[in-house]
Amino acid sequence: MKLNRATNIHDLRSMAKARLPRMVFDYIDGGAEDEVTLKHSVTRFDDYQLTWRTLRDVSKIDCSTTIMGQKTRLPFFISPTASTRLFHPAKGELAMAGAADTKKVIYACSTLASQPLEAIAEANPGPKWVQLYVWRDKQIVKTFLKRAKAAGFTGCVLTVDMPVAGNRERDPRNHFSIPPTPNLKVASQVLARPRWLWDLMRSPKITPANFTHLRGGNAGQTGGVIGFVNEQFSRSITWDDVSWMRDAWDGGFAIKGISRGEDAERAIEIGANAVWVSNHGGRQLDTAVPVIDLLPEIAEAVAGRADIIADGGVRRGAHVAKLLMRGATGVALGRASLYGLGAGGQRGVEKALSILEDEFRRTMALLGATRLEELDPDLLRAPKA
Ligand code: FNR
Repeated sequence: MKLNRATNIHDLRSMAKARLPRMVFDYIDGGAEDEVTLKHSVTRFDDYQLTWRTLRDVSKIDCSTTIMGQKTRLPFFISPTASTRLFHPAKGELAMAGAADTKKVIYACSTLASQPLEAIAEANPGPKWVQLYVWRDKQIVKTFLKRAKAAGFTGCVLTVDMPVAGNRERDPRNHFSIPPTPNLKVASQVLARPRWLWDLMRSPKITPANFTHLRGGNAGQTGGVIGFVNEQFSRSITWDDVSWMRDAWDGGFAIKGISRGEDAERAIEIGANAVWVSNHGGRQLDTAVPVIDLLPEIAEAVAGRADIIADGGVRRGAHVAKLLMRGATGVALGRASLYGLGAGGQRGVEKALSILEDEFRRTMALLGATRLEELDPDLLRAPKA
């Protein structure tokens, strides 16, 4: 199928599946253990039903808003995803950042990006945020934040839902690692996708050294990226260990991976400007509650003191509208943009963003809403508890 024939995100997913080696597609597509949260996060949207206000002038629709101090044309944006060059070996994060620039949406770049921060910033002169985890080595974090600031990143996203990596069973089954280690199983998957292999062969090698922005302490020197992650993640990190990070960053600060009101309160106490409700796209704790169900509790705890960002399972413009109706200020896209990337590089990500924008604008018109403030919870029938 040609990119311009894709009518929705599901089509882009099928195209990505046909282009990427199985282990790479499954790394994007998969979730933890029985993948209950992964599936439920998408299907749960259907349990929320819509009513609409009729005979309103919807000839002009304004979707603009401000998320964590950043004015933006649309209420959704690209969520941080690691090792993006695996999905598009030639450009990876540069394709994501370029698409964000073309479509004028915020790009949140992963701390495990496979390109240097400065190059990513150059590919997207527009609004951009940088994500990090709570590494053991404070020096790595400090150097990283300094570089991000100098490169023009204005927001920082601290992801806190990964005290340990989730149990994603598709990865070991496929012999998947970052960077990929050659062996027979891997070779057969790669040889089945010659286009991806050709792209990989003519691109600079994906080695731990590509993850240059992790350097600053001893990152990337030993054990590959996974080795770095295992070495730098600590199971003993608590709220007391994160407040210094807020102080080390002068700009918007979001805490990503919140699922409870009490933790939203703590995030605000340490100075977060945005509480990011997320279960990491069902990649961490399986059977976690879908984000749409959690939002009212979080909104009550936040009580207007910070923005609320939500992600997980968004594959339709109407999903974005429903999250906004439940209290989100902004919505992040993980797999929707990655399927686009796998399907067709930067143009594929642009296609994903265009599809969702068209769907979102159409949903607004059908609801009788011309501004985001008109997406009120009254329009939504939540399922009975
Ligand atoms: C992610 N996500 C993620 N989050 C983060 O804070 N740092 C990261 O490096 C990554 N890496 C990553 C890789 C891949 C392949 C995926 C699919 C996801 C989680 C991501 O930001 C977001 O929370 C979820 O993807 C949202 O769910 P959907 O939109 O993918 O259903």
